[in-house]
Amino acid sequence: MANSGKFNVLLGLTGSVASIKASQIVSSLIDEKFNVKVVVSENAKHFLDIPTFPVPVIDDAEEWKGWSKRGDPVLHIELRRWADMMLIAPLDANTMAKIATGICDNLLTCVVRAWEMSKPLLLAPAMNTCMWEHPVTREQLVRLRGLGYIYIPVVEKTLVCGDSGQGAMAEVPTIIQTVCDVRERLTANAGDIIEIKNDDRKRKHDDNGVDCAS
Ligand SMILES: Cc1cc2nc3c(=O)[nH]c(=O)nc-3n(C[C@H](O)[C@H](O)[C@H](O)COP(=O)(O)O)c2cc1C
Repeated sequence: MANSGKFNVLLGLTGSVASIKASQIVSSLIDEKFNVKVVVSENAKHFLDIPTFPVPVIDDAEEWKGWSKRGDPVLHIELRRWADMMLIAPLDANTMAKIATGICDNLLTCVVRAWEMSKPLLLAPAMNTCMWEHPVTREQLVRLRGLGYIYIPVVEKTLVCGDSGQGAMAEVPTIIQTVCDVRERLTANAGDIIEIKNDDRKRKHDDNGVDCAS
């Protein structure tokens, strides 16, 4: 936890159109008294108005710019140390697949790959309905939940692309409420986060991992 007593949330943004809601997520987290830093994939930047974005956006270029010799800080490790929790919202299909298989070819996925597994990592997927319903998505979600990451369920709606069905990112208030719940449980007792993870694993077993569309 930061010296200020506030929780540090690292928000990861990926190349889903749902990144247009990123400034709303950041503002809501700030309203809830979180410290917020934002890491982006290159494709996520396409959906942001960076000059008016509420906090600085940290991208791949910063990672490389900041290191030239031994002793210099390594940004993805510094960010992991700074964060009390990480939220990836939206998590697109590409980054989901990368995380599920351990690929780390940009700043965001390096933070995840170097993540300290005792800290919560929350995932709010967002993708087209056919992508969501593809069996490979189900396999990856089961794997990610099995690792203990906290899944914020997708919702059903008419997507920006015009298709209707499951796969839309959870509503912003739902995401913020989940982050607040995790903070509350962490504050109450450091051991409680294990319970959250186990709840999530239990759900996975209860529904046999077939709730990708729930
Ligand atoms: C306009 C537009 C909207 C997109 N929306 C999504 C989306 O909601 N979910 C998704 O999984 N991919 C979406 N994509 C595809 C991703 O941007 C693409 O897979 C990209 O490689 C993701 O890169 P990243 O994971 O490094 O951010 C979209 C692409 C475009 C051009």
